[in-house]
Order: sequence, then C-alpha cells, then structure tokens
Amino acid sequence: MTENLLTRTERAEDADDAWVLETLRRHEPATMHTQHPVVWHHARGSRVFDRRGRSWLDWTSGILTANAGHGREEVAEAIAGQARQGLLHAYMFPTAVRARVVRALSELTGFPQCVLYTTGAEAVEGALKIARRHARAKGRRAVIVTFDGAFHGRTLGAQLAGGLPAQRDWAPECDDVFVRVPFPAAGEPWSLAEFEGELHAVGVRPGDVACVMGELYQGSTLRGLDPAAAVALREWCTRTGALLVFDEIQSGFGRTGALFAHEHTGIRPDLLLCAKGLSGSLPVSAVLVADPRFTEGLRPGELTSTHSGNPVSLAATEANLALFADGRLVAQAAERGRQLAAGLDGWASRRPDRRRVVGAFGMVAGIAFTTPDGALDPPAARRVVTECVGNGLLVCVPSTLGGAMVKIMPPLTTTEAELADGLALFTAASDAAQRD
Ligand SMILES: Cc1ncc(COP(=O)(O)O)c(C=O)c1O
Repeated sequence: MTENLLTRTERAEDADDAWVLETLRRHEPATMHTQHPVVWHHARGSRVFDRRGRSWLDWTSGILTANAGHGREEVAEAIAGQARQGLLHAYMFPTAVRARVVRALSELTGFPQCVLYTTGAEAVEGALKIARRHARAKGRRAVIVTFDGAFHGRTLGAQLAGGLPAQRDWAPECDDVFVRVPFPAAGEPWSLAEFEGELHAVGVRPGDVACVMGELYQGSTLRGLDPAAAVALREWCTRTGALLVFDEIQSGFGRTGALFAHEHTGIRPDLLLCAKGLSGSLPVSAVLVADPRFTEGLRPGELTSTHSGNPVSLAATEANLALFADGRLVAQAAERGRQLAAGLDGWASRRPDRRRVVGAFGMVAGIAFTTPDGALDPPAARRVVTECVGNGLLVCVPSTLGGAMVKIMPPLTTTEAELADGLALFTAASDAAQRD
C-alpha cells in the first residue's frame, strides 16, 4: 500500500542522506538537531553504519541504550517473532510476554513488583506518583527531595525534580513540593546533618518527605554518589518513612560494571527506575518496587498507560534480559571499564594542564578540556568531537559542563581491540585540537 503511494523520485530521495537532513531541518524544530549529521542506516555490535557502508566505532550506545551491543540478533529475532505471532499491541490486557518479562525482572533484581512504561521520564513520573500517594495515605505533605545537578528527564514532573535550573525555567514554580539539596558526591564534604539542615531551611520536616530520589552517578556532572552518604540516606529514609528512589535509567544494566550501580553501595532503594539498557532497543522503562505495600493505596489504572506492556517492546526486553542473565556481559563491562579508565589516565597525562577526567564509572566516563589557566574550554571539546566523527569515532556533541565535557559511553560488548582503537583515535583528535 505504502509502496504504491510513493513515486520513484520520492524513493530515490528517501535513500539520500542530504534529503534526510534537509527534510528533518524543514519539518522539525531546530532544537531536535543536536547531533552530528551522521545519518544512521544500521548498527551492529560496536559500530554504526550509514547507507553507503561507511562505519563509525560507537562511543554513544545511542545515549546509553545499546548496552548489549547494537542490532543484537537475539533481540531482532524476538521482535520479528512477536510480530509474526500477530500481536503488535494489547493495551493493559494480559499477555504471556508481559508475564514473562515482569517475572524475569523480578528474578534478576529481587524486586517483587514491576510497573512497565515506555520512556525513562514516564518511569520517573510513575515513581513520583507512587511515592506521593504512599505519603499522602499516611497524611504527609509529600515533598519530593532531589539533588542539585540531577537529570531525570524532560517531562514536567521530571524537570521539576531535576537539579539543572536552566532546564527548569519553563516550568511553574512548585517549590513547596519539589525541594533540591546539594548532591552528596564522593570526595566532597557532606553530612546528614547538613542534609536535614537544608530541608529545615525551606520549612521541610523529615516527616513531610515522600521520597528522596537520586542518580548513582549524575549524567550531567559525572559525579558519583558517595557510598557512605547512600547508606546514611538509606537509614534516614527507613527511619522517617520516606521512600528512597534510585534513578538507574542511565547507570543500570551493566554500565558501571555492576548490573545496577547501587550494588557498589551495598544498599537497596525502595523504588528502582530502569529504561535505556532494559530493552537495549525499543522504548521500555520500569519502576521496580521493593515492597508491595508501597503501591497498595493506588486506585485501579493509576499507573497504566496506552503503551505500557507493548508486546513487541516486551519481546525485545525479554531477549535483552536473557543476555544479562549469566553475568558475563556485566563482568566484561567491568573489565573493559578498567581498560577505559587506564586509557583515559594516559590521555590526560599527555596534557595535564589542558585535560581532566571528570568521572569514570565502568563503561561511562566524562572528560573535560580546559585552557592552560584551568578554565573550561568548550571550543576544544567541540573540535575534538568533530575530528573524531570525521575519523570514524562517533561521540555525542558535548552538552554538559558548559559544553566542555565529552561523554564516553561505548556498548558494553566493545572488544579490547575496539576500545584500544577508539582511545587511539580520541587521543589523536585531542592532540590535534590542543597542539598549541
Ligand atoms: C538518569 C536519567 N533519568 C531519566 C532520563 C530520561 O529518560 P528518557 O529520555 O527515556 O525519558 C534520563 C535520560 O537520559 C536519564 O539519564
């Protein structure tokens, strides 16, 4: 049918990268066009290809999603199999694939309940609803406490919870509900007394809090949550009755060398948020619930949406989860992460006055470019990334630390040789950009 509607010329245009870029430019707002004009045609393992077969070693994982590698045969087969079964959508009617996925997630993580969604931001909104309903049922004010520098997505609630003021300035003031406090970053001073003091200063008593939500490393600042602070916050939440929510949408599914980054802290949250690497492909997210009592007060349908539980997306998720079941992928991420950290130390030592590793957690790292006097140097970061892309290494356009930080996030399946190649390309690009 569609085939008949397309003229020959349109089909020719469709295959042309310049047509793709121009059409997107014409029909989408400029704000969508953040990345280099590399038109993805297909992607496999650690490489992304354009339609002419040119390829790039991928250091983006499609923004930390293709953790198990691009285009996994197992995942593609599962998607095709579900489509062939003839069920592309089922709303909230029960399906076998949904039952298998929630059971698999529960077995893999130890969290007894699971609420499925599509995007990360949707899971964040769901968690906020669970936490606030739970708190309201106990007659609490239900304040949401989050951290400066946090990123939780781009919907209204997620941005109100976020700790990046410039991203929030379109949203209404809701400071009586959303309260942000300094992030307890490893290596920086923090105490529970200061945390309570920050809340007290804005009129929030411990019994007012519905939840404390944080990332295990901040995607925007590449600072890690201090493990001792995580333990202290866990105890505080247990004592005060607030829920501890870990947003592992970015840090989950092996990225930091553990299945979930909170495993490095030894404590568990009450709600755990996953997306991205959960399916590694189609849009699926989840709120994992540690105790069924947290969802008891919710009315029927309050956590559902049209596409939560989509059978095709869940078939992809089931196949992707199976890739994590024996722990080998996570172990490989840990090993490759050590190689990445060592490589970046070598990279920094070539120009210690102009380069800095901001943070490195397994297979994700943030590195910053500076001028000799220590000021951040966004133009250098941009030059390096442009040079990398021109030489076959795909790196996202720098957007954090004022555009001076480059984020390195290869698929966890990247081989030792591929990572060595990537580091060599990146070092050469950096040396070229900082020759003066
Ligand atoms: C920590 C964190 N939370 C939430 C989100 C939002 O996820 P999504 O873009 O799928 O809505 C992101 C996305 O980058 C994230 O990194």
